[in-house]
Amino acid sequence: MGSQKFLACFFLHFFLLLLVFRLSVGQGLRIGFYSTTCPNAEAIVKKSIDQVMAVAPSLAGPLLRMHFHDCFIRVNNLPHLVCGSGNVLGCDGSILLNSSTHQAEKDAIPNLSLRGYGTIDRVKSALEKECPGIVSCADVLAIVARDVVVATKGPYYEVETGRRDGRVSNLADANNLLPPFANITTLKLGFQARGLSVKDLVVLSGGHTIGTSHCSSFSNRLYDFSGKGETDTDPTLDPNYIIRLKTRCRSLSDTTTLVEMDPGSFKTFDTSYYALLPKRRGLFQSDAALLDDSETRAYVHEATTDGSSFFKDFGVSMVNMGRIGALTSSQGEIRRVCYNVNY
Ligand code: HEM
Repeated sequence: MGSQKFLACFFLHFFLLLLVFRLSVGQGLRIGFYSTTCPNAEAIVKKSIDQVMAVAPSLAGPLLRMHFHDCFIRVNNLPHLVCGSGNVLGCDGSILLNSSTHQAEKDAIPNLSLRGYGTIDRVKSALEKECPGIVSCADVLAIVARDVVVATKGPYYEVETGRRDGRVSNLADANNLLPPFANITTLKLGFQARGLSVKDLVVLSGGHTIGTSHCSSFSNRLYDFSGKGETDTDPTLDPNYIIRLKTRCRSLSDTTTLVEMDPGSFKTFDTSYYALLPKRRGLFQSDAALLDDSETRAYVHEATTDGSSFFKDFGVSMVNMGRIGALTSSQGEIRRVCYNVNY
């Protein structure tokens, strides 16, 4: 590529990136987006979620995680900036699309443990009955995430709405999700690449105060951690906790057993996740890694003190996360059903 062409290409992409950034950061997203077009939208979502939580409270964790997995897919990286084909994808409801001609995000390994798609369909049908074609599936995910936090005794926060639904869902884009063995550098870069701060990282990790995990997400810490054999465990994990976890996860190949992520209060959204971390009882390496950076470590300690700002911070960081790659105005569409694009 000649240097003039390269420069033209670079500036074009820089301009486009600024545009995408403007569109995605709050532009078009606002609190009460449906106040005239579907004034009961949030009440309808809440009613459906309250009904679901009354009979299936264990769906709170997966439904919170689903919004995170919708938002945290493909990001621009350096090669994309220099005339690549990539762009920012994010909270556009693409996690909900079924595979048709090709495999969708849903089929990617990190998403195989997601549950609650039926709940989203139920919420969407209730909305379609009252306001057909108005409320996007991407917004349903964001509102549902807030409502399950509230249902588990966590904070209420205002959700920005006005997202539109994407028409694309590719398995490969979900491989950008952060893995449970990520170290602090990978975690910080992953959040930074999506316009989120180190504070957002430590605050949103607090989502692990509710829900369960499959043994396979952390059993490398219990067995053969560094390739030295069966009894080789992760030295950053409390040995007593290891003993307890091993009674639940019987081998490295256990892919079915579920373990509470925040033992003792995994059904309640509270600060106990942060109390476990300094005791070396964070379940994932990515949880333990929050002790490896001065800013995240300071927050972990602060989060359990009287007057902790965690509840307020969580709402702020969820709003920040909900802005990643959001489609607004005339982009995308409002799907009629969440699992298929409109025809
Ligand atoms: C910081 C990087 C993160 C990593 C590496 C990570 C990783 C994971 C993994 C591996 C699981 C267990 C999946 C399974 O085996 O079933 C999980 C569960 C969960 N995650 Fe995260 N997560 C991260 C951030 C977040 C964020 C930002 C949220 C939401 C704000 C979140 C909410 C949850 C919830 C609620 C569960 C429990 C799901 C259930 O009950 O089925 N996570 N996470």
